[in-house]
Amino acid sequence: MIDRLQTLLKEAKETIQAVGDLKALEEIRVKYLGKSGLVTEFMKGLGQVPAEKRPEMGKACNDVKNEIAGLLDAKKEAFENQGGSASPLDWDPTLPGRRLPWGKLHPLTAVQKEICDIFKGFGFDLAQGPDVESDYYNFLALNFPPDHPARDAQDTFYLKKDILMRTHTSPIQIHVMEKLKPPHKFVAPGRVYRHEAIDATHHHLFHQVEGFLVDEGVHFGHLKGILDSFIKKFFGSHIKTRFRPSFFPFTEPSAEMDISCVFCDGKGCRICKQSGWVEMMGCGMIDPAVFKNCGIDSEKWSGFAFGMGVERVAMFKYDIDDIRLFYQNDLRFLKQF
Ligand code: PHE
Repeated sequence: MIDRLQTLLKEAKETIQAVGDLKALEEIRVKYLGKSGLVTEFMKGLGQVPAEKRPEMGKACNDVKNEIAGLLDAKKEAFENQGGSASPLDWDPTLPGRRLPWGKLHPLTAVQKEICDIFKGFGFDLAQGPDVESDYYNFLALNFPPDHPARDAQDTFYLKKDILMRTHTSPIQIHVMEKLKPPHKFVAPGRVYRHEAIDATHHHLFHQVEGFLVDEGVHFGHLKGILDSFIKKFFGSHIKTRFRPSFFPFTEPSAEMDISCVFCDGKGCRICKQSGWVEMMGCGMIDPAVFKNCGIDSEKWSGFAFGMGVERVAMFKYDIDDIRLFYQNDLRFLKQF
């Protein structure tokens, strides 16, 4: 009987060794250790063994059973560590994988890109300029008089005399027009800095997208057409635009462009203060004095420029009521976009 047990064990060892997947392994467990398995049947037969032999035989049976069980467990664990087996039946290939944490664009980056992409679609190229500017590029070349209040240290961050953090992206107009010959058709995104107390609608650092187009025969109608098309692409074709007279030293005439309120569709609400309109950006025809500073003949060339705040556009797009949320890096906020 002991011999037969040993043969059984040898046989079991060999099949466990050769087994290819978890399902076959389970079949082996049933064959040897199941309710009517080979080892189990052996144990059932112990009753017929003479009483004096029974303890020895019982122990031999138990040893074989434990050894097979141990081998089965070890093999199972090995399969599981390999991530299952070759058999398609032991694991479900359609189960979704574990998601890795995945970063995405900050809403301001995404909106800035969306704005620039629309203008690229209109044939505009991208231009850039430095964050640190001289008084010349930020103010003087843009026709700001020496005593203009924006030049005050109350409004502008100075690094030293005549060197400052740009307060708008308009100096990029000067850099481009100094270097390249017209015609020009550019959008220029960037950070701007103002010595400002921070609250829900103001921040000392924010972003603008500047745009300008210079060619022969450009007039205010072109400016209105481009900006109206931009707004309809960005916010939807139902949004209306209107232009109000305004003033900037570097454009003449100058205007503020309003859009029909994106929240109430122009009907009047808390955000548009019941007027049905919200202010969107400054714009105008480039002042001949600016052309002169860049060596461009304003008898031949004319052009328009505009500048919009990226935060403002993003706040309208996503109904955000506090500009500070963009800079707090709170993942609960950022994950929504
Ligand atoms: N630079 C202006 C501002 O920061 C915006 C502007 C740009 C206005 C171009 C007219 C033309 O407010």
